[in-house]
Amino acid sequence: MRIAVVTGANRGLGLEVCRQLAQRDHHVILTARNAEAGQHMATKYGFEFRPLDVSDVESVNNFAERVQDKHGRVDILVNNAGVALDGFDLRVVRDTLAVNYYGAVRVTEALKPFLGTDARIVNVSSGMGELACLGLELRERFSDPDLTLDDLNKLMLKFEEDVAFESHVMKGWPSSAYRVSKVGLNAYTRILAREFEASESPIRVNAVCPGSVRTDMGGTSADKSVKEGAEGIVWAAELDKKEPPTGQFFRDRQSLKW
Ligand SMILES: NC(=O)c1ccc[n+]([C@@H]2O[C@H](COP(=O)([O-])OP(=O)(O)OC[C@H]3O[C@@H](n4cnc5c(N)ncnc54)[C@H](OP(=O)(O)O)[C@@H]3O)[C@@H](O)[C@H]2O)c1
Repeated sequence: MRIAVVTGANRGLGLEVCRQLAQRDHHVILTARNAEAGQHMATKYGFEFRPLDVSDVESVNNFAERVQDKHGRVDILVNNAGVALDGFDLRVVRDTLAVNYYGAVRVTEALKPFLGTDARIVNVSSGMGELACLGLELRERFSDPDLTLDDLNKLMLKFEEDVAFESHVMKGWPSSAYRVSKVGLNAYTRILAREFEASESPIRVNAVCPGSVRTDMGGTSADKSVKEGAEGIVWAAELDKKEPPTGQFFRDRQSLKW
């Protein structure tokens, strides 16, 4: 039985991903920052529950320690937790990156030392994070095949700095914290995939855009049901082909351009 961790899973896509993974006989660890809501859903569906606020270093470290103690490994990690905040200012930028970018990186890096030998990591991203939303120079920097995590963190800090100095548009950034957070998440996906490939690890990491989905975030007029939106994420979490893809971006199981 594979041990599956899903972040931000008390509602929306995260909860549905937990349900679909459990239907496929994985041991599901539902995590949520809201312990009451998370515990309620976990009890309702018979999943293990662990509190996890992806934006809080202590919460992430405690979580990783508990999971390692209890299970010794994680085979599936779905970085699903996300926010799409209203407005655009430095506070919105910081709060958005804290969850959508730094949160996913922090959880992944904390679990990395005890990922199962053929683990699957799925970063729940968005078409909004396509590189096309950036100016040409930034696009080239984010897509540089030699980009390291350190370089990427510096680029994300540069975005904050440029917003603080009101120079972000001139420097080629969009006025959308959500877009930049997902550009960063996608770049992290490529970096991580290269890292596993370089060490000949069979671990696979991909980004998935669920499409426009009827959740609290997606709204009632979005195209897809939560069940349909979760299917592409679960597919990437289970990739078991002979040569499963890695470092790619998918929607509806089809590869997208970054
Ligand atoms: N719905 C769409 O159309 C759509 C399209 C493209 C991509 N996505 C992506 O899909 C993912 C899930 O979105 P959704 O539509 O299911 O949104 P949602 O219904 O708003 O759910 C978001 C989840 O993330 C959790 N979360 C937020 N901050 C967190 C933190 N610091 N730590 C842990 N959990 C946190 C929320 O918990 P609380 O209940 O505590 O707030 C909630 O469980 C997101 O990454 C989103 O960007 C969605």
